[in-house]
Amino acid sequence: MPALSAQVTDSTLAERVVRWQRAHGRSGLPWQGSRDPYRVWLSEIMLQQTQVATVLGYYERFLARFPDVVALAAASEDEVLGLWSGLGYYSRARNLHRCAQSVAQVHGGRFPGSAEALQTLPGIGRSTAAAIAAFCFDERVAILDGNVKRVISRVLAFDGDLAQAAQEKRLWALAQDLVPERGQDMPAHTQGLMDLGATVCLARNPACAACPLQTDCEARRQGEPERFPVRTRKVKRSAQSLWLLLAQRVDGAVWLTKRPGTGIWAGLHCLPVFESADGLEAALAVADGSGTSTTSALAAREDLPPFVHVLTHKDLHLHPVQASLGLKDQLGIEGAWFAAATWPALGLPAPVRRLLEARALVGLA
Ligand code: ADE
Repeated sequence: MPALSAQVTDSTLAERVVRWQRAHGRSGLPWQGSRDPYRVWLSEIMLQQTQVATVLGYYERFLARFPDVVALAAASEDEVLGLWSGLGYYSRARNLHRCAQSVAQVHGGRFPGSAEALQTLPGIGRSTAAAIAAFCFDERVAILDGNVKRVISRVLAFDGDLAQAAQEKRLWALAQDLVPERGQDMPAHTQGLMDLGATVCLARNPACAACPLQTDCEARRQGEPERFPVRTRKVKRSAQSLWLLLAQRVDGAVWLTKRPGTGIWAGLHCLPVFESADGLEAALAVADGSGTSTTSALAAREDLPPFVHVLTHKDLHLHPVQASLGLKDQLGIEGAWFAAATWPALGLPAPVRRLLEARALVGLA
């Protein structure tokens, strides 16, 4: 990796990022301009792996319902998951709730005032802690999320393999060398690196002509910006088939179970999940309301079109099976009937919500 050219100092890079952010970066978003760690933390957690446009509505609803960290800590996990429903990556919501409880109970309702201390809280990693500390406290500490790794590794033509912890550590040190000298520039610098990564220094077809670092960028000079960052280990993807039982009563209510606290869709309400069609069929032995006789809903079952739901490391091949049941029927598996009116407030996996919304429309037709 070549050294930075002599006339381009680290602070010059930082100044360019800061100036560019103030003129061209994202501005006017509801969490920008606030130095309240609660609001900034909430936005940073929501913005992980999620587009700004998607986050906006969720952010407003969360703040309306939970105006401060103590209110969030006092909520039930079910309510938090319900408000989060549709944002995905639900471990973020569970950690959000745990973090609020820790701030409320251990830290007297105030977020700690440094990146180092913020990192000790549930769901706050090194980069998120640094972002909160930079935005709220002007702390001179580097961020290094996925987008920023791309920006910095390209500017420096850093060719260490980021699959190796030692190389990632080196990049953290280089990122720290790039922070501005003045703490008051930290919010714009931090936001500027994020904005460059999200809007200019794209993984494919980067818009180098619009980049304030174009004349400093070693990867661009070499003619192959897309070669960076270097990461040899590909995340291994797997596939799994699951059968979903969509048991619906004549009044439209659907049988939902609560998922266990760990594993896929942890803590969410969900259609009963089976690893085989046989398992699903066995569960369709229905006890009628009197509890005295058993009938089978197998005759009334219908295979709905299967579809693929893509998770981070796994493709789920989902096979929904619809079964129509009577008003007094209960299923012999854990769960309860949920009327359509209750679905919007439940934490539901995205594919399950889509299935239910389609059933609600069918029911209304
Ligand atoms: N992703 C993570 N933090 C962000 C922020 N503050 N602005 C835009 N995207 C982000």
